[in-house]
Amino acid sequence: MADPLESYYANVVDSVGDGVIVLDNAGVVTLLNPAAEELAGVSRRQAKGGRFDDIFKGEAALIDMVAKTVATGMSVSDHENIVLKRGGRLTPVGASTSPLLSSEGERIGTILLLRDLTNVRELEEAVRQADRLSSLGALAAGLAHEIKNPLGGIKGAAQLLEMEFPENEELREYIRVMLKEVQRVNLIVEELLALASPGRLKLGKVNLHRVLTDIVLLQRRATDGMEISFGQYFDLSIPPILADESLLTQLFLNLIKNAMEAVGVGGAVKVTSRVWADYSMTQKGERRARMVAIDIADNGPGIAADVLDHLFTPFFTTKSKGTGLGLAICQKIVSEHRGMIKVDSEIGRGTVFTVMLPLIQ
Ligand SMILES: Nc1ncnc2c1ncn2[C@@H]1O[C@H](COP(=O)(O)OP(=O)(O)OP(=O)(O)O)[C@@H](O)[C@H]1O
Ligand SMILES: [Mg+2]
Repeated sequence: MADPLESYYANVVDSVGDGVIVLDNAGVVTLLNPAAEELAGVSRRQAKGGRFDDIFKGEAALIDMVAKTVATGMSVSDHENIVLKRGGRLTPVGASTSPLLSSEGERIGTILLLRDLTNVRELEEAVRQADRLSSLGALAAGLAHEIKNPLGGIKGAAQLLEMEFPENEELREYIRVMLKEVQRVNLIVEELLALASPGRLKLGKVNLHRVLTDIVLLQRRATDGMEISFGQYFDLSIPPILADESLLTQLFLNLIKNAMEAVGVGGAVKVTSRVWADYSMTQKGERRARMVAIDIADNGPGIAADVLDHLFTPFFTTKSKGTGLGLAICQKIVSEHRGMIKVDSEIGRGTVFTVMLPLIQ
């Protein structure tokens, strides 16, 4: 019969959410818990009795850490640089190694702990994006105010000119162009000001599915003849959430428009809603909240890696008629709702923008 205490300890190790791997003094794996199986992509049966250096052949940084602990008897940790490669996927991990000591204080092996940092990295990226926006926002607000005054002057002068020469058709045409362009600059400035000013949310119960369905319906009509196919895949168990409906409409409209502009004639745009079950975010002193995730997926050309870094920067655009404010505004709306926005893209395959919002009812 198994020692009850031993099976108790085995249960404890198996239940830990972090990966635990234990090696003996010869570098042979003696224990590997389920979280480690998952992270390393090897089964316990494959790993047990095998040499650590063989099983983790491609992971030079981990082998190095283990070797350091074996050589010095000291603990080593690295939470910045290690990325596990398994099954074509990259997982950022925090790793630490420490010597395993017997009750007599003798070194009998090495313990390796692995923590999945995927969610942490995503959060860090979201925070970086928000920071970038707020510093640019302050500058933009100043600039926008400076532009609005001379713009008013130009508009007034153009109108005076129009009154001065009511008969001159050619001149009137030039003035019409001037006024139209002034109007356009004005609109950009207004958008920029809205982006830079701290918004006030008008909170209410928002049925996300209705908002999304309405946008798709409108866009489908607007693009009649472009033959873009729209798919909607909703988890109908998602209740209405507490949010600002007109801002969310603007958010999803921007994303769906971008998707449509990316796919062009004959493309496909898919809108999906799901509950982000294993994700919870602690918001400074508030209770933990589950998240709702909305994916806007397209089968367009995808986004190149160097473009990906600038997507949310105000005025970044690759379109001849774009202002480049769309995604910056999306970013602002999402962070005002204490959510996150992220993008996954593959050249030639398409792009998925995912908006995560707290499931607060
Ligand atoms: N679904 C997508 N597929 C490919 N590229 C995209 C997608 N969404 C955004 N982009 C890229 O990101 C850039 C910035 O998007 P953003 O919405 O901020 O501005 P824009 O669409 O260019 O202009 P605006 O939204 O102001 O009309 C786009 O110019 C485009 O290069
Ligand atoms: Mg856009």
